[in-house]
Amino acid sequence: MYRRRRIVVFGGVAVVIVVIVIMLVSLLTPKPPGGPSPSPSSSPAPSPTPSGSPSPKPTASKTPSPEPTPSFDKTAHSIDNADSIWVVVNKLRALDPIDYAPDDLVYPDVVNINNQPMRQQTADALVTMFDAAAADDIGLTVQSAYRSYATQVSVYAGWVDSEGQEAADLTSARPGHSEHQTGLAVDVSGSSGECSLQICFGGTVYGKWLAENSWKYGFIVRYPDGFTDVTGYEYEGYHMRFVGITLATEMHDTKVPTLEQFFDLPDAPSYE
Ligand code: DAL
Ligand code: ZN
Repeated sequence: MYRRRRIVVFGGVAVVIVVIVIMLVSLLTPKPPGGPSPSPSSSPAPSPTPSGSPSPKPTASKTPSPEPTPSFDKTAHSIDNADSIWVVVNKLRALDPIDYAPDDLVYPDVVNINNQPMRQQTADALVTMFDAAAADDIGLTVQSAYRSYATQVSVYAGWVDSEGQEAADLTSARPGHSEHQTGLAVDVSGSSGECSLQICFGGTVYGKWLAENSWKYGFIVRYPDGFTDVTGYEYEGYHMRFVGITLATEMHDTKVPTLEQFFDLPDAPSYE
């Protein structure tokens, strides 16, 4: 009776040991990489051929690559046509014709100190920007806007009279070379008048707000600090140039501060 039970117990233990040994052998046997091996076939699997030089790394991935970001179309508007919102005017690029005048000048309903008009698109964007600034408790006014060729003749002459030509050329454009003649430029002041039309405007709350936010409304600070060698002018944190939201946003996002650099144009520090 006891002997029979012992045989049964030993028999059971032996079976368990055999099963464990089989499992261990199976686990420790090396398997070919790549998961379970396929069912045996008549032809042997090709073995990798050693080569003298390392094989090139695969360049193509099976994972689909994301759609490339559409590149910005720098030719969407002319930079030469005086009527274009992208026209680039500087000391090397006179307006054509030199006495160009826009035909859609309007007076937006904002405080306009010198009572000068601007092009319709400039005005619409400016009103939206001034409203946004007001919502941030930043009161903005228009100091100057469109100036005709004839007006620029007397403005520039006044600067030359008071400062001499070299200093005048750093702050006032010669007639036919001023963005103010396009109707797309506006000199903006703060409601307090602090640093109006001065280099220190950029350090005021008004100048800082414009530098941070004007691109959202289609404006750029056309003569940024530190780029006199490119633009030809001292820092004018108040001179806002309307270029449209698409271009202003692209320049902001790509951190390109001047139109000359964005359009790969020559620097324009002086007249030819
Ligand atoms: N102050 C800018 C450069 C102009 O006269 O157009
Ligand atoms: Zn200006």
